[in-house]
Amino acid sequence: MRKFELEAISGIPLVHNDYQGVFPLLVHRAITGLVSGRILHLYSGTSLIGDVRIDIEHPNATLNCDVEDFVKDDIRVWDFVILDPPYQITRTDVKLNSYGIKGAISANVDRRRLIKEYLQKHTENVLWLDQCAPMIKGFYREKLWLVLSGGFHTVRVLSWLKREMKPLL
Ligand SMILES: C[S@@+](CC[C@H](N)C(=O)[O-])C[C@H]1O[C@@H](n2cnc3c(N)ncnc32)[C@H](O)[C@@H]1O
Repeated sequence: MRKFELEAISGIPLVHNDYQGVFPLLVHRAITGLVSGRILHLYSGTSLIGDVRIDIEHPNATLNCDVEDFVKDDIRVWDFVILDPPYQITRTDVKLNSYGIKGAISANVDRRRLIKEYLQKHTENVLWLDQCAPMIKGFYREKLWLVLSGGFHTVRVLSWLKREMKPLL
C-alpha cells in the first residue's frame, strides 16, 4: 500500500448549537486550508464551503435535492468534492424518513457505488468525512485525519483522496 500522512485531531464542534452534524473546528480548518478551484460540497448541511452545495433540506445549500439525483444528472468537473454523508441512524434517520432514506450512505452498496462512480469521472480530489476510510479505484490516500471527539463518541475519519496520475503516453 502507498504511504500516506496520518494526523489525529480533536472533534470539538465548530459552533455549539442544536445542529448535531456540524464540522468539528479542526476538520473545518483542514478543509478550508486545502481546497481551491472548483469545489462541490455534497451533504453540505450548515456549511458554506464550496461553490455548489447540495443538501436535501438545509437552507445553506445552493441546491436542495437528493445527492443521488444530483450525481445522476451533473456533468461538471471539479477540483475538490467534499462529502459528509449521514452516518448516524438516530435522529437524522427519523428526520429523513419522508425521503425514504435510512441509515448510513457508506453502508448502502447501491448509493455508495453511484457516488463512487460519479467521483471517478468528475473530480481530482475527494475530502470524505465518515465513520470509515473509503478507497476509490483510480485514487490514492494522500492524508487521513483521525477525528477524536472524546468520551464515548464515535471516531470519524477525514480522508483526502487524490486522483492517480494518468500514465504518460
Ligand atoms: C452530517 S450532516 C453534514 C453537516 C455538515 N458537514 C455541516 O458542517 O453542517 C449530513 C447532511 O446530509 C443531508 N442529507 C442526508 N441525506 C441526504 C441526501 N440523500 N441527499 C442530500 N442531502 C442529504 C442532511 O440534511 C444533513 O444536512
